[in-house]
Amino acid sequence: MPNFVLFGAPGAGKGTLAGKIKKFSPIAHISTGDLFRYNIKEGTPIGKEAKSYIDAGKLVPDSVVIGMVKDRIALDDVKEHGFMLDGFPRTLDQAKALNEIAKLDVVVVLDIAKEDLKKRILGRWSCPKCGEIYNIYNDELKPKVEGKCDKCEDTNLTHRSDDNEETFEKRWNTYLSQSEEVINYYDKTEGLVGRVDGTRTMSYTEDELRKILKL
Ligand code: AP5
Ligand code: MG
Repeated sequence: MPNFVLFGAPGAGKGTLAGKIKKFSPIAHISTGDLFRYNIKEGTPIGKEAKSYIDAGKLVPDSVVIGMVKDRIALDDVKEHGFMLDGFPRTLDQAKALNEIAKLDVVVVLDIAKEDLKKRILGRWSCPKCGEIYNIYNDELKPKVEGKCDKCEDTNLTHRSDDNEETFEKRWNTYLSQSEEVINYYDKTEGLVGRVDGTRTMSYTEDELRKILKL
């Protein structure tokens, strides 16, 4: 399995696709958003610093994110199974820092327009126990029982605190301001970037991802 990055706007489908890959591969899923949410829940110094940025739809400072990813990439499961990064890098400095610490084989860019994203963000619910991501507006991604996880019986699904219209607008603007230079940085290496039309169905985007990763 190649070491790869899932790159895309808020709600593009990075976490959902990572979940599909995890169903058949032991590759380490490193989601910086999930790591921050875990740190916030545990009340760690990283969590305390990150919270105000996340609530404001802004990026957590590079120094904090890069340190956190460096520590995560150094763990044994990454040495053994490789990594898929979800939501990192998001700035040019993060991309350059990653280049210093690990070898990247593929960058997968999920292309999707703003108007499709808002509905996804507002319809997203996830399981606090197993992390499964659902969407109430999509038949393929709906939970079988409203508000409950399909896998963890009796667990109520939760909604992320940054999944509201106001924070989405800010996250979208943050993405617009940073994404182009990150993609341009990777586009300089021929064959590194693969693009997926993120507006299509879940099954379609999963098939496209598998083709790019040669799975
Ligand atoms: P993070 O948690 O990474 O949020 P994000 O980038 O805004 O992305 P999302 O998790 O919202 O979307 P996703 O692409 O994973 O979509 P999903 O698969 O869930 O980061 C949160 C915050 O942490 C940031 O705002 C920032 O403050 C901070 N942070 C994180 N990383 C950082 C970094 N590197 N540097 C600095 N700060 C950082 O799908 C969304 C919904 O759509 C779901 O309901 C899903 O079911 C549905 N869906 C998925 N695919 C499809 C499909 N094909 N068709 C229809 N619906 C679909
Ligand atoms: Mg995500």
